[in-house]
Amino acid sequence: MIHLDDKSFEIFISKEDIQNRIQELGKELNADFSEKEVVFIAILNGAFMFASDLVKHVRFSNEITFVKVSSYVGTNSTGRVDELIGLSTNLSGKHVIIIEDIVDTGITMDKVITLLEGEEPLSVKIASLLFKPDAFKGKHLPDYTGFEIPNKFVVGFGLDYNEKGRNLDAIYQLKK
Ligand code: IMP
Ligand code: MG
Repeated sequence: MIHLDDKSFEIFISKEDIQNRIQELGKELNADFSEKEVVFIAILNGAFMFASDLVKHVRFSNEITFVKVSSYVGTNSTGRVDELIGLSTNLSGKHVIIIEDIVDTGITMDKVITLLEGEEPLSVKIASLLFKPDAFKGKHLPDYTGFEIPNKFVVGFGLDYNEKGRNLDAIYQLKK
């Protein structure tokens, strides 16, 4: 059991199970992307730990970059404007694999993909450590999923509660 601010969390996915699953995902990627030029785009902050462990298993030619998704209210009539901050890599002629910690409603991933399409990559796939199918209402399902989980709040392995808990090497679920 761990405590972060006012909440308690109990172990949900052990570090061994996470590492075993990441190794399997790495093998799947190696089978699908051999001989290809890949750019990994990890979404900060949550994906930093999954990204660092996943890419260690990869045997094909790759580059790794990190972006943040931000929304701000623009001055034009459309209101909200979404931006990918930090994308300086040229994606044309490259296969993109987005690395995310969790796909929940899928809204973030829809935004990221819309923003990336303008960069004209050869293909775009999504690798997400966690996926909450019951919360999902997006357009883009993860292509590579570590674990499908119920619609409950989790922390650890990059995921936070009030920015805390990202360092944990296992995944914990909110205790009722
Ligand atoms: P989505 O746009 O609803 O798919 O959610 C995207 C973001 O919400 C993720 O990248 C996480 O930062 C955050 N999030 C969703 N579910 C959880 C959770 O259970 N724990 C911590 N963060 C979460
Ligand atoms: Mg996130």
